[in-house]
Parts: sequence; structure tokens; C-alpha cells
Amino acid sequence: MPTVQRLAVLTSGGDAPGMNAAIRAVVRAGTRAGWDVIGFRRGYSGLIDDVAIDLDARAVANILQRGGSILDTAREDRFHDPAARERARSVLTNRGCMALITIGGNGTQTGASKLQSVWNGAVIGIPSTIDNDLGGTDRSIGFDTACNTALEAIDRIRDSANTLDRLFLVEVMGRHCGFIALDVAIGGGAEAVLLPEVPFDCDALAQIVQGNYERGKLSCIIVVAEGAFPGGARGVLDEMDARGVSLEAAQGAGARVTILGHIQRGGNPTVRDRVLASRLSVAAVDAAACGRRNLLVGVSSRSICETGFAEALMEKREIDPTQLALVNTLAG
Ligand code: F6P
Repeated sequence: MPTVQRLAVLTSGGDAPGMNAAIRAVVRAGTRAGWDVIGFRRGYSGLIDDVAIDLDARAVANILQRGGSILDTAREDRFHDPAARERARSVLTNRGCMALITIGGNGTQTGASKLQSVWNGAVIGIPSTIDNDLGGTDRSIGFDTACNTALEAIDRIRDSANTLDRLFLVEVMGRHCGFIALDVAIGGGAEAVLLPEVPFDCDALAQIVQGNYERGKLSCIIVVAEGAFPGGARGVLDEMDARGVSLEAAQGAGARVTILGHIQRGGNPTVRDRVLASRLSVAAVDAAACGRRNLLVGVSSRSICETGFAEALMEKREIDPTQLALVNTLAG
């Protein structure tokens, strides 16, 4: 039995605004509870290669408001290999770690679950992905900031669209899910939204655009989740042209594509993401201190909840059809 009560933390996968707020809260809550805290660099890469730094309360000063992760992240393919997980297990054991907190999305928590099955310390997950597609929680850290970043960009695009009477296809992130697209479509007053969860219908889109034009709307914003169609927003426009259904003709003016891309992953986290990161991290440390393991902390109806990794990873978060209908209803 190690004499030191050591807690480890890592951030992994796609970075999300609020990861630093989560690291800070894990370290501050952990040290207050008497843990010695270390952070593995670059997610599971640092865990496999045993690259870690000591983290105390001062080491996490002045990071609450910063995007990215002071520990860096990585998408580490080696972790699919049982031999790499075995190396990770022995690194944790040799360093005397009693618990590991994993901050990240689906890939990260899948790795966490696999690691838990070979290690007898506690693995606790904290959901952090701008996509907001992880089960076991209503909200993931980074989603709110990403939506606000995309929304600000759409507001600016709207100024230009209105002024030149143009149609814009604005591509937002979301390879497999449309949560960002749906929220920013409602919040940005988009005329239409295309999601990976809803099969693309060329004629239906042309009808929406033409209907808007006939009702006197001279500009149009269509929000496209990157995974809604192969090639994203550009792919949609090309497909419409290839089928002879011109959006430009339906709109009566020019069409432009704007891809927002990775600006959605960076920047200072919003207050909602800072509060969420702080609450979830304190709950994760608490769960580890109480001897619980093999679970993801989350929020459900504003309260903290805990869900076993297996159940959280099985859950498929669905798009709310009433929210989807709102876009159409409010298009005016
Ligand atoms: O982290 C989620 C996400 O932002 C997705 O929405 C997007 O498809 C993907 O990451 C892009 O990741 P990367 O730039 O690392 O390939």
C-alpha cells in the first residue's frame, strides 16, 4: 500500500474550453482533501510514456479563464492496444496513484473504462467535449463556449448577408452529432439547419430557401453540421448544383460558404463552462476520495450525477425534434 495518497489527472482528445478550469478544480479540491496531485501530459500518451508534472494549488493559478489545456491533449491510437494499457497500469502503480481523473469526450472515456478493467485504482471521468454527445450527462464542458463562439460569428455573417442579400451556408463542428448546429441555428435565427442525425433532402432545402424568398426574405443563413453531408457545407452546395437545384436561383442572389472550424474549440470559457467544470471536478475528486470508481460524473437536471462508464458510453444522446421544429417555425 503506497504511503502517499496520489491522484493523477489528464486531458485527452479534442480540446474544449473549460479543460483548464477542470484541471484547476481537480488540483485545488484534491490538495485540500490531502491528495498529492500529478498531471500526465498529452493525455494517454503521457500516461503510457510516463511523462507527468507535479501540480499544486499555485501551479494552477491563473488558468481558470484560459482555453486549451495546460497539460495538452492527444488522440492516442496506441491506447487501443492492450499492451499499452498494461504499460499505463504499471506507470500508475509505480507512481503510487490511487485514482486517475480523465477529462475528455467519448474516446477518452472509452479508454478510461478499458483502463479501469485492468487497474485496481479508481478511474473517474469528467465529460469535456464541444460536441456535447457524451452519455451520462446533460452537458459536457466546452459545449456552451463553442456555441457562443459560433453564434458570435453567425451574427457577424448575418450583417453581411443582410447587406448584400446573400445566402450563407455556415459550417459548424459536429462530425457525428448536431448539438452545436441545432443550438446556434435557434440562437442565430437560421432559416434552416442540416444535421448528421437527419438525412439530407436536397429538394426540401431548396423549397425552404425559395419559400423564404417568396415571403420577402432577401438573405438566408443555413447552419450545416460538418457531418451532415460528405464535404460539409461545401459538399451541400456542390450536391445541389450537381442535381440542378441551384440555391442561388432559389434565393435570387449569391451563395457563400463559411467554415467556422477550430475557432469553436479555442477561447476563454463562458461562465457556464467554468461553473460546470468546477462543479464536476470537485464531484470527481469527492467520488475518488469516497472510494467510488469506474464512473463518469455528470449533470442531470442541474444536479450532479454519477453513471458507470459502461452505461454512459452505451447511451446515445438524441436530438430533440421539438427544437428542430423551432428552426422552421421561427424562420418567419
Ligand atoms: O472534439 C470534437 C470535434 O471538435 C468534432 O466536432 C470535430 O469533428 C472533431 O473534433 C475535429 O477534430 P480534429 O481537428 O482533432 O480532427
